This record gives sequence, structure tokens and C-alpha cells, in this order.
Amino acid sequence: MTLTTNPVSPRERGADEKGRSTERPFDVDRVRQDFPILATTVHDKPLVYLDNAASAQKPRAVIDAERRVYEECYANVHRGVHQLSMRATDLYEASRVKVQKLLNAASHKEIVFTRGTTEAVNLVAAAYGRKHVGAGDEVLITGLEHHSNIVPWQMLCEEKGARLRVAPIDDAGEVVLPELEKLLGDRTRIVSVAHVSNALGTILPIRRIVEIAHARGVPVFVDGAQAVPRLPVDVQALGCDFYAFSGHKAYGPSGIGVLYGRAEVLSAMPPFQGGGDMILSVTFEKTVYNDIPYKFEAGTPHIAGAIGLGAAVDYMTTLGLDAIHAYEDQLLAYGTEKLSRVPGLRIIGTAREKTGVLSFVLDGVHPHDVGTVLDYEGIAIRTGHHCAQPVMERFGVPATARASFAFYNTRDEIDALVRGLHRVREMFA
Ligand SMILES: Cc1ncc(COP(=O)(O)O)c(C=O)c1O
Repeated sequence: MTLTTNPVSPRERGADEKGRSTERPFDVDRVRQDFPILATTVHDKPLVYLDNAASAQKPRAVIDAERRVYEECYANVHRGVHQLSMRATDLYEASRVKVQKLLNAASHKEIVFTRGTTEAVNLVAAAYGRKHVGAGDEVLITGLEHHSNIVPWQMLCEEKGARLRVAPIDDAGEVVLPELEKLLGDRTRIVSVAHVSNALGTILPIRRIVEIAHARGVPVFVDGAQAVPRLPVDVQALGCDFYAFSGHKAYGPSGIGVLYGRAEVLSAMPPFQGGGDMILSVTFEKTVYNDIPYKFEAGTPHIAGAIGLGAAVDYMTTLGLDAIHAYEDQLLAYGTEKLSRVPGLRIIGTAREKTGVLSFVLDGVHPHDVGTVLDYEGIAIRTGHHCAQPVMERFGVPATARASFAFYNTRDEIDALVRGLHRVREMFA
């Protein structure tokens, strides 16, 4: 198959010709002004939004981009010869190219728009999995996966009589690589792992995992839901076969997400869903499927969502992905230090490579109570099992409280969280 490639220049990726970062230092006060919701109050207190791993807030650029679609050029895509349809199609396809550049994919044809990460996993489990996984085969995941990267594989295994294998994690929340390697066997048909754990913040060594799997001819799916908002991601450097993320966690709209797949792998896959746009021709006898990526985009897509996602990609790229990562690392270090000093607080997940997420439990207080008291202080955190019940089981807790950071958070907000936690302790003493 001939690929149309859109080569990505170093400058577009925020680097000079030698690959050095050209990104500017981070101005969080200015950045905060781009997010209207951050000026809001909750229970008459300034909002402190620390639930970014669940969903991130949207900059004005994204809100405006979506609104403009509906006000100025809304029509269905890929169908009309009229102006509006052509303009909407151009914008929709331009977003695909933006995502291609964000992930450094070799071609825009490798970028499939989905509803989110969950749909991307289901797509690959159904289309790739049904074709390649049979009775007695194995699918390998890790012990820190989100339910979205467990259940679709479990369903596939049940249907096919295959076996789900799970690489264990250690007490710090790191995947035990030698165990993962041991679990990769002749029957392994696919490895599916998170890039960053939503429950613990662990960054997985994806390149190494891909090397180990590819050495045995096994393809790798990477769940990048928590990574794309936080780290520069280069799918060619990682070498993975599939990579997925959700728009809403990456400062874009909800209901839109991305599946990256290597062109030859996607081309060889059967479709996921049937319907309009994924076909070249239909008769009652036979349907000829469209080329990638359209083969995997049946029906009218989330047009404004995809365009809004393009605006989010532009926004993050302008801030600089290295700058975002460096700033969030500072916040995490600050938060880890401050929270560690709260009496009775235990941080769950202490991996050496970590980003964005601080999960913790407080002696004698249920996480839901922690979350409720903090809410009255205007502080939004997540409490519960974070759609990662096996992780909770591994650490012997029913739930945790989780503060997760974005580049618009500040040290002052972490200080507010710490004050709130002291208040929780006083109330439950
Ligand atoms: C690591 C991880 N994978 C998958 C998902 C599912 O994402 P979505 O609900 O956007 O499909 C999440 C959401 O929290 C996540 O954190």
C-alpha cells in the first residue's frame, strides 16, 4: 500500500534542527487565564481542580473551536459537494494531521478517530483480536490496567476460549519486567499495557516492553489515556503497533478519541463496525471496504469533537510538551513532599518513573469522606477505585483518594489541598 506521509519537521515538534527543545519556560498564571472554569467558585471557595486524570478542563481555544464549527461551517463530512461540507471535511481532516504530528505517526492514515480510549481498545480487541486470537491463545496485560484495558480482552478471551495473563506489579506500583517477559510465550497473541497508570501515576517502560514483545513477534497495544496529556509521545520511537488516547483527558472535548495503528497492521485488520463512510461500494452481494483510516470510522463521526481535539493539540503543542511535562513533574515532587508530611497519610504508588497522579489513603478516614470534606473547601479530587479494582486489591485497600495534576495547577492549590487534609483529620480525630 502506498502511504501519504506528512513529515514532521523538528520545529513543529518543538525542537531545533538538532532536536533540542525550543520551548519557553512555563507561565502558569497566564495559562490559567485560558481556562474560563478555573475562575469559578465551589461552595463559595475558589475552585481547586485536582481531578484531571478523570477529565481535564478546556481552554477557551477548544471551546471556541467547537462553537465556531456549529456557528460557521457545520455539515456532515466526506459526503457533500457543497461549501459547508467541504469546509467541515477540511477541518476534520486537518485535525487528523494535527494528531498525527502530536504522536509522530508516519501517516495521517494511521490515525483513526474513535469515541475515546475505551472504544479504541474494544476496536482492536474485536477487529484484531477476533482474527488473531483463538482457543488456547493468550493475551498479556499488566496488573495496573484501567478496566477499559482489561474487560474488552477478557470478553475476547471468554468468546474464544483464550486466556488472559497478567504481569504483576511490585509494592511501588512498577510492572515486574522479568515476570512480564516470562509470561510472554508461544501462545501470546497481543500485549496490551498502559503508558501511564491512572491509579498510581507509574510510567511504564514502553520501549522495553515493545522490544521484549517484538522479539517474540507479538504486537503491542498501548493505552495512552493518561500519557498523552502529560508526556511527549512518539509512536515511532516507542515502536508500538497500536496507541490510544481520549480527547477529554487531553484538554479536548469528550466523546472523541484516537486509535493509532501501524498502517500495515490496520490495513490487514477487518472492520470493527459496519455502516456509512467505511465502504467503497455496497451491493446486496458484497461490500468493498474503504481504505484506512475510514474503514474504522463507520457512521457520522463526532465532527465538532474531532475539530475541538485539533484545537487542543494546537494548544498543548504551543505550550510545549516538554515544558508541560517538566512543570507537572515539579508539581508532583512538591505535592509528594507536602502530602508525605500529613500525619497518617500513605501514598499508594511510589514508582521511580511517575507522573501526574498522587493516590493516597488517610488513616481511619474513608476516601469518600476525604473527598466530601475537600469538596466543601472547593477542592475537587477523585475518590474510589478509579476503574482499577485489581490495583486496589493489590495494595489491600478498597479505594484511595486521588489528586491528579494538570499544567494549570499551582503550588498554592497543593497547599490548599494539604490544609484541607488537615481539616479532614481534625473532623475525624
Ligand atoms: C489509563 C486509562 N485507560 C483508559 C481510560 C478510559 O478512557 P475513556 O473513558 O476516555 O474511554 C482511562 C480513563 O480514566 C484511563 O485512565
